[in-house]
Amino acid sequence: MDNASGDDTPVGTGPVAGTPVDGTLGLDTKTTLLSGRDLWSTEHCEDAGIPSLVLCDGPHGVRRQLSEADHLGIHRSEPATCFPPAVALASSWDPELLRRLGEALGREARSQGVDVLLGPGVNIKRSPLCGRNFEYFSEDPYLSGVLGAAHVNGVQSQGVGSSVKHFAANNQETDRMRVSADVDERTLREIYFPAFERIVTEARPATVMCSYNKVNGVYASENRRLLTQVLREEWGFDGLVVSDWGAVSDRVAALAAGLDLEMPGNGGGTDAEIAAAVREGRLEEAVVDTALERLRALARRVRAEADAVTVDHEEQHMLAREIAADSLVLLKNQDGALPLAAAGGVALIGEFARTLRYQGGGSSHVNATRVDSVLDELRAQLPDVEIEFAQGYDITGEADTRLLREEAVALAERSGTAVLVIGLREADESEGFDREHLELPADQVELVRAVAAAARRTVVVLLNGGVVSLEGWHDDVDAVVEAWLPGQAGGGAVADVLTGRVNPSGHLAETIPFRLQDTPSYLNFPGEQGHVRYGEGVMVGYRYYETADVPVRYPFGHGLSYTAFEQSDFRVSATGADSATASVTVTNTGDRFGKHVVQVYVTSPKRPVTSPARELRGFAKVALAPGESTVVEIALDRRAFAFWDITRDDWTVAGGRYDVQLGENASDIVASAPLDLAGDQLAKPLTLDSTVEEWFGHPASGPALMEAMAAGMTEEQAAAAAENQDAMRMVASMPMRQFLGFLPVPIPDEFLEQLMEMSRAPLATAVGS
Ligand code: BGC
Repeated sequence: MDNASGDDTPVGTGPVAGTPVDGTLGLDTKTTLLSGRDLWSTEHCEDAGIPSLVLCDGPHGVRRQLSEADHLGIHRSEPATCFPPAVALASSWDPELLRRLGEALGREARSQGVDVLLGPGVNIKRSPLCGRNFEYFSEDPYLSGVLGAAHVNGVQSQGVGSSVKHFAANNQETDRMRVSADVDERTLREIYFPAFERIVTEARPATVMCSYNKVNGVYASENRRLLTQVLREEWGFDGLVVSDWGAVSDRVAALAAGLDLEMPGNGGGTDAEIAAAVREGRLEEAVVDTALERLRALARRVRAEADAVTVDHEEQHMLAREIAADSLVLLKNQDGALPLAAAGGVALIGEFARTLRYQGGGSSHVNATRVDSVLDELRAQLPDVEIEFAQGYDITGEADTRLLREEAVALAERSGTAVLVIGLREADESEGFDREHLELPADQVELVRAVAAAARRTVVVLLNGGVVSLEGWHDDVDAVVEAWLPGQAGGGAVADVLTGRVNPSGHLAETIPFRLQDTPSYLNFPGEQGHVRYGEGVMVGYRYYETADVPVRYPFGHGLSYTAFEQSDFRVSATGADSATASVTVTNTGDRFGKHVVQVYVTSPKRPVTSPARELRGFAKVALAPGESTVVEIALDRRAFAFWDITRDDWTVAGGRYDVQLGENASDIVASAPLDLAGDQLAKPLTLDSTVEEWFGHPASGPALMEAMAAGMTEEQAAAAAENQDAMRMVASMPMRQFLGFLPVPIPDEFLEQLMEMSRAPLATAVGS
């Protein structure tokens, strides 16, 4: 095996089982192992039983560089299958598909000598402007977590480690290496952590990559709370924490915080800093040993079954096509404009129809083994249709756009049906910068309008990594297919859906808003003066649109099919104090095979925190032949009903009536069922600073207090108190300390002490119905 640094030390080889890291290794040897040897590999040490490991991008393909190396996607890498990026994958809503993708990626990684694949990226799409949204799954943490876990399970089933990234709150590219993401605790717990938490607890990733940014003022790479307390102590992460490439600013602080491996290598400078810190007594040597032990455990884990693997590139390509086709979202299909008829003429318009836009720019950029065009694939599938091509627009900025438009319009007039393939150019979106607006290039919008006015029917296929505005042309066209960035086999996948060979089954994993101004982070993105305030809190994506009743072009979860599904007999039953099962019968009532996504949302009762109108808590994708029915069961666990309670620093389930809802999407609810949960019988311990309402409302101490007060009152005083409810409302928020001064009958201090003592005792938990 070659290595990127060009020296002759074997990369990825060497002893795996060996002496444990102990006092026999010199400090300098140990610290050397804690940063990379070069851009993509780690140092090795035979004495410590630590081989050199190879870590490579990226989430949707293997980016192995053997000669000139860089982490920005500039130099070429070895040819590899470019699967659809996360933006497309998430629209499949299909964990099984993600698992198969992961297995294929894992095989390909092994065939190229890669030990750890740097992905998936599971950061939340806080704003549609984030330049890296194409690499992330969704605006919803549950969907991101379930799909991310499937990805990791697939990759790791092949003996390759995953690196879940970028932990945490890396939701923009602007100032990404310095900005402080200022996020309140509940929002971190409910929105920005859960995908990582699910993957860590369910899929046991070999590594987690920290993000570049700061979280509440502290670099993620030096954030002990993130890297040790939350990740390891709370979630039980037992793998290795690796830095994002160049994310370390203070190596000693980072190591102490829990960052084990610094990547890439930097010539040993920071290794010496660690050694000096140990020698000067600023850092315990045990911290170094622990990080080394984790590196060693990683080597043991990923190298356990390493042997020669060969990959069938044709097979991988066909899988990439299947995945892409199942990820496409049919947004609109008026009067059955799609699938295309098998005879007649089609005007296929748009440079992207022959030069597919299929992946995003930056570190995830894969050197595809081949790329299929929509033009070739459509011609191959519709031999009896005369498919003529017009460029329509230009992506180089050099052609005469008016001339191109006129040619396209003339062709559309002649052909009757026009299929336009449009989208964002590679330069419009990438890692490293955020977009400033949601618009498509102006010449493409003008083209769509002109073609739609000339053609009998107009179908638009979109290729874009981040959400684009559909305004200004959406109502002029008959059908819209959102193909995202569909990977190297995307040309065939688009043709499959246009012709009906594949029945579309993708659903939006993010909302398509009408206007940028409607997006929840609009006033707080991308921040200023080194800070970005997550002012919208938990109201991200559809949580905000549904709660504030802001209309959108297409809601989260939307997606059409060429067949029809009926959902009936929706039921919900509690399975414990804080869990339930929802079930529904799904029937394919149309005339062709199709896949349907059951989406279950939960609406909470009144809680002490502002809650989204509804939240996705379960989903399942089912495949059905015409006339076929199936019963789908969705388990709703405690977390489906819980909120993060900052007063307890824990998850809490409020008692009360929940509504479990079956949605076609986040805004179209087709059935719902009430669910009464007893919730957590948690009462906060009382103090003299607790309010009157808290004192009287306390399940144990409250009744005792009321009884004592009533006993001490005269009949007139009791009657006056009962009558004067308004006054009671006024004092409800008064701390007990102040309230005591207003009481006609004093309450003895010892009795108050007793009540406070009583409030500290645990309460029995009741079981919900
Ligand atoms: C990116 C990571 C990537 C790394 C290595 C960084 O710039 O943020 O996602 O894995 O480079 O290429």
